[in-house]
Amino acid sequence: MNIDVFTLFPEWFEWFASQRHVGNALASGSRLQCVNPRDYTPLSGGQVDDTPFGGGAGMVLRVDVLDSALRAHYGVDPVQLRRRRRVIALAPGGRLLDEELVDELAGEPALTLLCGRYEGFDERILEHFAGDLVSIGRYVLSGGELAAMVVCDAVLRKLPGALGHERSAAEESFSVALEGNPEYPHYTRPAEYRGWRVPEVLLSGHHEQIERWRRERSRERGARLRPEPDGH
Ligand code: 6GU
Repeated sequence: MNIDVFTLFPEWFEWFASQRHVGNALASGSRLQCVNPRDYTPLSGGQVDDTPFGGGAGMVLRVDVLDSALRAHYGVDPVQLRRRRRVIALAPGGRLLDEELVDELAGEPALTLLCGRYEGFDERILEHFAGDLVSIGRYVLSGGELAAMVVCDAVLRKLPGALGHERSAAEESFSVALEGNPEYPHYTRPAEYRGWRVPEVLLSGHHEQIERWRRERSRERGARLRPEPDGH
């Protein structure tokens, strides 16, 4: 997986890229690169954003600046680029990131993530350069960077080699193995702490019973997440 993040704050990603699970993914053939549009702005003084037409608070990332940055990095017109490569703008109103979208993105050979700042993007960036808009939840962050890291984290940990144990990714929350349900509860030593005992079945060594118990707990948690059909 080859991920390019277009951000005015590349230093935010240094910490992220230095985390071990991300490092593992990068060591197993993935790449995460930041591009700062400020380095490619055709405007004087490193200008990248501007006040919105029609008035209002905040600043908007300029379309001409992102055009230059994408063109310089990929050597093609960004309007063509999005036909060949998955270009995603992080925006609060975008498609909600869920496990299905993560799987879809993990199947791509490469991703380009565009982070807006302040009031976001000039709409023409979204219309002409981005293939889709992705949001991590219905609340507003001060920029797309944290959302881009969420996307990177969720995608990279799907790839072979990112996790210590290959099984961990197969049988985790929302996986097909768990029928799309959240994961079952985990316990470790001590078997009893302050009178709180680990469920007996997990100490029993009966693998079939343990499997059954885990499926049941996982289904229960899934049922709690889904609204009841009658609205209660
Ligand atoms: Cl992708 N961007 C911003 N600015 N806020 C968000 C978001 C993205 N997802 C949820 N809130």
